[in-house]
Amino acid sequence: DGDRTFGAFFDTPARVAFDMDSAGDGTITVSCEAPGLCLYLIDGTDAYNVVKQFLGIIGPSFLPPLWAFGYGQSRWGYKSDKEIRRVADKHRALGIPLDYLCMDIDYMDRYIDFTVNGHRFPAMTQYVEDMKTKGLHLVPIVDAGIKIEPGNPVYDEGIQKGYFCTNREGENFQAEVWPGMTHFPDFLRAEVREWFGEQYKFYTDLGLDGFWNDMNEPAIFSTEYRAKTAKPDAERGDPVQPERHIADFKDFFHRLEDGTRVSNYEVHNIYGGLMTRASGEGLDRLLDRRYLLFSRSSYIGAHRYGGIWTGDNASTWHMLRQNVYHMPSLNMCGFLFSGADTGGFGGNAGRELLLRWLAVSVFTPLMRNHSALGTRRQECYRYQNPEDFKAVISLRYRLLPYLYSEFMKAALRQDMFILPMAFGFLGDETARRIEDQLLVGESIMIAPVLEKGALGRKVYLPEPMTEVRWDGEEFRCTGADAGTREITVPLNEVVFYIRKDCLVPVAKTTAASTAELDLSDVELLGTGTAYRQYLDDGYTKDCSLERCTVLQKEP
Ligand code: GLC
Repeated sequence: DGDRTFGAFFDTPARVAFDMDSAGDGTITVSCEAPGLCLYLIDGTDAYNVVKQFLGIIGPSFLPPLWAFGYGQSRWGYKSDKEIRRVADKHRALGIPLDYLCMDIDYMDRYIDFTVNGHRFPAMTQYVEDMKTKGLHLVPIVDAGIKIEPGNPVYDEGIQKGYFCTNREGENFQAEVWPGMTHFPDFLRAEVREWFGEQYKFYTDLGLDGFWNDMNEPAIFSTEYRAKTAKPDAERGDPVQPERHIADFKDFFHRLEDGTRVSNYEVHNIYGGLMTRASGEGLDRLLDRRYLLFSRSSYIGAHRYGGIWTGDNASTWHMLRQNVYHMPSLNMCGFLFSGADTGGFGGNAGRELLLRWLAVSVFTPLMRNHSALGTRRQECYRYQNPEDFKAVISLRYRLLPYLYSEFMKAALRQDMFILPMAFGFLGDETARRIEDQLLVGESIMIAPVLEKGALGRKVYLPEPMTEVRWDGEEFRCTGADAGTREITVPLNEVVFYIRKDCLVPVAKTTAASTAELDLSDVELLGTGTAYRQYLDDGYTKDCSLERCTVLQKEP
């Protein structure tokens, strides 16, 4: 009757269809083709309350180290240690803060997981160590498929122990991905997960402590079967051929612990999440400190093992807006540590788009600039007036005492970090309809500029707040009345709001990396009187809310 608030979670890794009243008679129909769907119904006082109960059910979030909240630079196409070092040096020379660099598939020997290309990265251990002394972490990509190549120990062991997915006939299923023909580890079995997780020792032995799991839907370029039946050339790598993909997923099988065989089609959506579980559990055994881990595909519950990035977006204003819309949804699903490819993956990012995108990413836990091979080079220093980029990224570092504290508090309380306006201002009908403003932690509201050519935007304030304008040097705070206002936001500035009676601790200076940032030396912005700051060494596994201390604002 419209009076009851409840949440429904349709827990199934199979394909689910939601018909949101297409007949117009008020009926929502949810259907699933595979058996075993488990429906959770959660009664609550309001939507936020329902989400909090849901987060309580699915368990606590993965906790990344402090450095993972720094700025990361990535690109598909970095070919060697020298090239990555040049990118890092450029950031350092221009004073653009940077904490990590991602190594895409070219660090590997012929795109084979758990290998390093010795020509391009001749002394990896030393390289990892050198970069660390500069406050820089290296983050290798790891793909789901294992290249079919006898003699490769991971492949050989997988074959010998029967760890790969099989085809209808029971032979190991073959699919083409980056390294050519591969087999997919059968992550549905605990034994296989344990084995796969152990393989990360290859990386941790090199001193690496950040990882990026990819192609784990799993993504398939081609299969033998498809090669035999497909029209020549038409399909390779083409992502929009749904029927063809479905045929692939129906064609390969997992073996469950009790020996039952199940087609990937019936459990498809859990595969990537289980790869992340395998790596997270492995890394927990291998490392005595927190590590960075994020995945392209995941599933409810896998937020316990790693974060998520939103996959291959593009350098468009539409995608920037999508990034803003995705953040509360991901948080509702427990994926607090998430973010998009800043600047966009496909296509060419112009200066304005990248600056506006960075101003959004300042507030998303994962803040990584990533772009595809063949697109315009997207490192900040490639654009005119790099100091403008430095200004925006420096805001991230000044805000880290707050962002890190709020993230950790949210994660430890099994709550959200980025919330939709509706959750913060229950009962405010205007706030309920706004999707392009967000709440970040308990004190901040953001209203980013998301339109090309816009000099500013309209902002709705449900309550009086402090308007903070960051110009790259200082924070200028002014009181702002409740209601709607028009603001101007130059490309090299960022405007955000501090909620009534709240505080935001900011670092007194920015830093080249989080290693040089003092999160305890803060200034308090806003009109509140006290702030509970979570603080630790940035890598301990022993995190608890007891690490919070109360900061008082001098009257
Ligand atoms: C996939 C990933 C992308 C990566 C590329 C090459 O498209 O989503 O981030 O750069 O593969 O590894």
